[in-house]
Amino acid sequence: MGFPHKPHPKETVVLSQYFGDADARSYAGWVQRGGYEALKKSLAMTPVAVQDIVKASGLRGRGGAGFPTGLKWSFMPKERTRTHYLCCNADESEPGTFKDREIMRWTPHALIEGCAIAQHAIQAEICYIYIRGEFTEPLRIMEKAIAEAYQNGVLGANAMGSGKRIDQFIHRGAGAYICGEETALMNSIEGKRGNPRIRPPFPAAAGVFGLPTTINNVETLAAVPHIINRGADWYKSLYLSNPKSTGTKLISVSGHVQRPGNYEITMGFPLKDLIYDLCGGVKPGRTLKACIPGGSSVPILNKEESESCILDYEGTVAKGTMLGSGGAIVFDDTTDMVYQVMRLAKFYAHESCAQCTQCREGTAWTVRILQRILAGEGTIQDLDLLLDLADQMTGKTICVLSDSCAAPVVTGIKKFRGEFEAYIKGARKPVMATV
Ligand SMILES: Cc1cc2nc3c(=O)[nH]c(=O)nc-3n(C[C@H](O)[C@H](O)[C@H](O)COP(=O)(O)O)c2cc1C
Repeated sequence: MGFPHKPHPKETVVLSQYFGDADARSYAGWVQRGGYEALKKSLAMTPVAVQDIVKASGLRGRGGAGFPTGLKWSFMPKERTRTHYLCCNADESEPGTFKDREIMRWTPHALIEGCAIAQHAIQAEICYIYIRGEFTEPLRIMEKAIAEAYQNGVLGANAMGSGKRIDQFIHRGAGAYICGEETALMNSIEGKRGNPRIRPPFPAAAGVFGLPTTINNVETLAAVPHIINRGADWYKSLYLSNPKSTGTKLISVSGHVQRPGNYEITMGFPLKDLIYDLCGGVKPGRTLKACIPGGSSVPILNKEESESCILDYEGTVAKGTMLGSGGAIVFDDTTDMVYQVMRLAKFYAHESCAQCTQCREGTAWTVRILQRILAGEGTIQDLDLLLDLADQMTGKTICVLSDSCAAPVVTGIKKFRGEFEAYIKGARKPVMATV
């Protein structure tokens, strides 16, 4: 198994340097490549000093919300009077996003090292790595790597001879998208149904088992050893557009491009260059129609917006969308946007935990209305109804799953209204969209 792609000269290869290099998976191979030096360095520092380096680097959460990582760590209690926990979010269920699994498949020790550094920074002896149930290969690789880390004294009662205990355990999910939401993830670890919790209390005050907890994404944690090794200033300098978004980002590109796959870019890279240069553009004879830049839950961009969008936290917001978890789904001119919006809504209806009425009912009714439009049985009023429903589903629930369903519906109708009207007016052949 080799590279999914040879790195493009315009990529900035940091996290993906060893993707495709099977030797980097073993403890010995990782150490040969400079692995665990950052952990050694960190363990010689105070927890607050490690937090300060990560704060100064500008690293922000790669799981979707983009919250500053060092700041999140600093919310943990300064004195460790009770057990502290780190949860590594490896649930990665967002349609369009497939980068965390590659980090685990190719560089499992990078994640173990990143988790161990974070554990030291927040004084958490225990880390749970919550892996999506379907990820059988990443699970097997991570299990082997953790066993090797214990055998070599990296983990355990005297981690790297520091006198400190650092334990890491894998918790396997059962394939529910909602368990990627941090409070649902903690409930799932506790053996409860994966329903999101009302906040406050926030996890740093009362997280898993009611104890102080920090939750971070795989990509966020895997970036930490690089920051410790090469310094906050180096990481801070990695940006092309806005100093508020620093570092590199893995973007998973899927859909109608010639070369789909994971690409590592410097923050601020133009989406247009990603689609046309790195991914080779859409198929010959076709044109770009739309792109969802951050995974299925973020608003859709039309062609013009996609071709002028900057890939960082601020650049995507300026276009009315979000960087999210970095899953760019590309659509060419053959795409039926009404069908696509219905298919996305159907995913959210299926994955709703059904706890909040707006989400349980809203996602299901959104699908039914979209299916009746596709079947040629919709009315113009249905478009207003969908928008009204979307409004009721935005900002009103415990977590943002229902907002994620509403976003593609609203932007789909706003930007591709003609396609919805064509079904309603009988100008398009009806589709019995049951899947
Ligand atoms: C419905 C839902 C699903 C989510 N799924 C994931 C996921 O699979 N992986 C992830 O890292 N974050 C996911 N998140 C975001 C997490 O709640 C959380 O913000 C993130 O793990 C924090 O890590 P970070 O600060 O390193 O980004 C999800 C959020 C929601 C609302």
